[in-house]
Amino acid sequence: MDMKSPSRRSFLAGAVTYTLAGQAAAQSINGRGLTVGFIGSGIRGKQLIDEFTEVPGVRGIAVADLYDGCLERAKEQLGSSIQTTKDYRAVLDNKEVQAVCIATPDHLHERMVHDALDAGKHVYIEKPISWSFVEGQRMVAASNARPKQVLQVGSQGKTSALTAKAREVVASGRLGKLNMVRLSEHRNNAEGAWIYPVPPDASPQTVDWQRFLGARPARPFRAETFFRWRCWWEFSGGVATDLFVHQFTTLHEILNVKHPAAAVSMGGIFRWNDGRDVPDVMNSMLEYPEGFIVDLYVNLCNSGNRGRGVWIMGDQGAMQIDGGRLTIFPEPVFAEVQRYGSENFPKRHREAYLKSFEGRPETQRRPEEEVRVQRGPTHVARFVESVVDNKPSLENALDGHYAAGAAQLCNHAYRARKRAEWSELG
Ligand SMILES: NC(=O)c1ccc[n+]([C@@H]2O[C@H](COP(=O)([O-])OP(=O)(O)OC[C@H]3O[C@@H](n4cnc5c(N)ncnc54)[C@H](O)[C@@H]3O)[C@@H](O)[C@H]2O)c1
Repeated sequence: MDMKSPSRRSFLAGAVTYTLAGQAAAQSINGRGLTVGFIGSGIRGKQLIDEFTEVPGVRGIAVADLYDGCLERAKEQLGSSIQTTKDYRAVLDNKEVQAVCIATPDHLHERMVHDALDAGKHVYIEKPISWSFVEGQRMVAASNARPKQVLQVGSQGKTSALTAKAREVVASGRLGKLNMVRLSEHRNNAEGAWIYPVPPDASPQTVDWQRFLGARPARPFRAETFFRWRCWWEFSGGVATDLFVHQFTTLHEILNVKHPAAAVSMGGIFRWNDGRDVPDVMNSMLEYPEGFIVDLYVNLCNSGNRGRGVWIMGDQGAMQIDGGRLTIFPEPVFAEVQRYGSENFPKRHREAYLKSFEGRPETQRRPEEEVRVQRGPTHVARFVESVVDNKPSLENALDGHYAAGAAQLCNHAYRARKRAEWSELG
């Protein structure tokens, strides 16, 4: 179907409201309160401090970070009386802290999650849950061993109202048997390629470089590595674990599937040749055991975004999710007559053939449908709700592991230059 057809019509299906759960959470938290410690208060950590403290009843009381400037900024957000430290274990030792929010570079996630669970804290861990597949497996086991502590992974699409609505559409069968998903993400500037500015006072005096390296080999301080860690495999999984992982989390939820069976990937460093070793363009294709493929790419060298959003295709229709919009494109009802397919008939046969379909319906296009969804509670509010109301995590360690694992599978295929099977990973 031509999406740009001037004849296309759209209409709004009834708006869906998903606010009740959030209101209930806010009320119960008001009654009991939750104290949170933040481990990592960089770019994402700063946003999370805001998101947590916007939830009624939540208090941020401690922050660990390795750069003085981030601790100073955290005090600007939370007040000068909070505990600040460069040693995250001091936050875990703080008996007043009930839950921690971890937003550090990926290579440090596993150690911090184990330590936080051992300290009895509830854990909000940013995506990707793990730097490697085996780390993810160990974290799932650790979380399962502590069922009274909530662990929620921080990929916010998982609990959005739009995702819930899209899942409902797929479950209804309106798209028919799914066969393919396509999606892409484009950026073309330094910020999009993670070349973040280095603060003017960054130095071994203001940054705890050894703690950043953790178990990685020792080397002299380098500010660019500390502030742009996503550019190296040693600390990150590149575009796949930074960006694909969100898509996998959301797709797995919408499609009600666990993880892919196999992947192939291609890409390279085509523009941002700044010493990084992760690709700035990567295209992966994955097979799912349920019988469809996912084709996704990130291009950090072109801002195009043509053919926007996520396209979920089935033999009865397609669904586009683009920003906050969800549109359903039902397949046309195709005519039985084949005008093109009978072009090779001699005139007498063709006329008889066409005549035999007289009175039967021609191809009927069906109108697309835009579904509006109102915003619901944030992913952070859902975590708080799980903790205070003693409810299961809405994005548990296994969910996070399946999404990170899918991204790690793409990377494995890319780095080994081969078709990679899920079963190879661990
Ligand atoms: N959910 C989302 O939309 C989203 C968006 C951005 C980032 N993230 C995730 O958040 C995490 C952090 O990303 P970012 O962009 O904020 O990176 P960042 O580099 O801006 O911040 C990381 C912070 O962690 C601190 N840190 C490093 N080691 C530490 C340690 N041992 N103890 C305490 N603090 C330590 C650093 O000082 C830094 O300030 C990553 O896992 C990333 O994938 C998620």
